[in-house]
Amino acid sequence: MKTDVLLGLQWGDEGKGKIVDVLTPDYDIVARFQGGPNAGHTLEFEGQKYVLRSIPSGIFQGGKINIIGNGVVLDPALFKAEVEALEASGHDLTQRLYISRKAHLILPTHRLLDAAYEAQKGVGKIGTTGKGIGPAYTDKISRNGLRIGDLDYNFEVKYQAAIARHKTLLRQLNFEYDLAALEKDWLEGIESIKRFKRIDSEHFINKALLEGKNILAEGAQGTMLDIDFGSYPFVTSSNTIAAGACTGLGVAPSKIGEVYGIFKAYCTRVGSGPFPSELLDETGQKMRDIGQEYGSVTGRPRRCGWIDLVALRYAIQIDGVTHLIMMKSDVLDTFDTIKACVAYEIDGQETEDFPFEINDTVKPVYVELAGWKTDMTKMQSEDEFPEEFNAYLSFLEEVLGVNIKIVSVGPDREQTIIRYKEE
Ligand code: GDP
Ligand code: IMO
Ligand code: MG
Repeated sequence: MKTDVLLGLQWGDEGKGKIVDVLTPDYDIVARFQGGPNAGHTLEFEGQKYVLRSIPSGIFQGGKINIIGNGVVLDPALFKAEVEALEASGHDLTQRLYISRKAHLILPTHRLLDAAYEAQKGVGKIGTTGKGIGPAYTDKISRNGLRIGDLDYNFEVKYQAAIARHKTLLRQLNFEYDLAALEKDWLEGIESIKRFKRIDSEHFINKALLEGKNILAEGAQGTMLDIDFGSYPFVTSSNTIAAGACTGLGVAPSKIGEVYGIFKAYCTRVGSGPFPSELLDETGQKMRDIGQEYGSVTGRPRRCGWIDLVALRYAIQIDGVTHLIMMKSDVLDTFDTIKACVAYEIDGQETEDFPFEINDTVKPVYVELAGWKTDMTKMQSEDEFPEEFNAYLSFLEEVLGVNIKIVSVGPDREQTIIRYKEE
């Protein structure tokens, strides 16, 4: 068997959590392969809403195994809070949530360093989620990190050495802090982690594949936030692309199957960084209001704009997307016209290639399409799609070169339309 991958194609928050939950019945195992609690994956069903940060979104669909893979960075304090919230609402996780011993820990001082580096950058700040993601991955790459498996091997000594090193850095950055409260929560979180099965997930996953089990790898963030291919330096610190599932789970490239690429019918971004099709006018505000575009973790308003097909085509190529999934099309239900950015104009020249540098001289070139002006939120099948909506789908499929297999018309699990179109 192969591992299928589901990931975001834009700047995150495309609706990954919802679709992982919808697809989970087809899988035996769901595994997160990168990122950490910078993610906020929202699921809605039976009138309940859940936001997951580190726990995979396959946790609600019966007895499926959910794995936090080696590529993830885990904050014990936030993990504990997440586990407790789920258990309080009646979801027992102990038997079906496993954690890789090679996943790295976010230390309390990583969060402080994240804040310190952002403060130092001033107006040039990245606008991180403040969860210590960058500093935790920095320690991983510089070979100073602590892993879940270290909890069983001389942990106290390793922990104190790391904290001492971080304190020196914080002093150099002139950053004032109070570590005591953070550390207390963190150490309690460590006890919470110890309740769960800690495994060598690469062995577990490869054995499961040999046994014919189906695995879904759940991405966090989005391709345009990838450390290598995103809008650097305004990116996250991990490989969010499909290849990240290989390194983040220990799955060989030849064992990757379908790649589901998720995008919104428009586009959003949180934090700083280029966004050529951003709308700073009332149309952008309308998208924000109808789409409730506020961060699921930080509550920050998301920047909104038209769909960017230059960036999307780039993402599809790098990820090797085999199926597209379009989310939040209902948000555009009342729009008279819809625009799609098909090229960028840079210094008077049009390009369809995603450029190295995106600055203020990059201007979006739009195609305008008719809106469908129909409430789609209660639709059950593609037979009900209005003509203009079908035209939008065909236009996107033509430009992107991949079929749109799923259309989401609302946040609930049920508001999902699978299209059985021939490839
Ligand atoms: P993720 O990080 O990719 O899992 O996405 P988020 O959960 O951060 O953001 C997606 C938001 O859109 C959440 O509030 C979802 O409940 C909501 N959502 C998902 N799909 C749809 C949809 O088709 N229509 C609408 N209106 N909302 C949706
Ligand atoms: P999900 O999985 C949207 C953004 C931050 C910031 C940049 C770096 O819910 O789609 P970081 O804390 O990772 O160092 O921040 O990346 N960012 C996200 N934006 N959705 C996310 O996750 C994000 N995770 C990080 O806003 O611009
Ligand atoms: Mg999110």
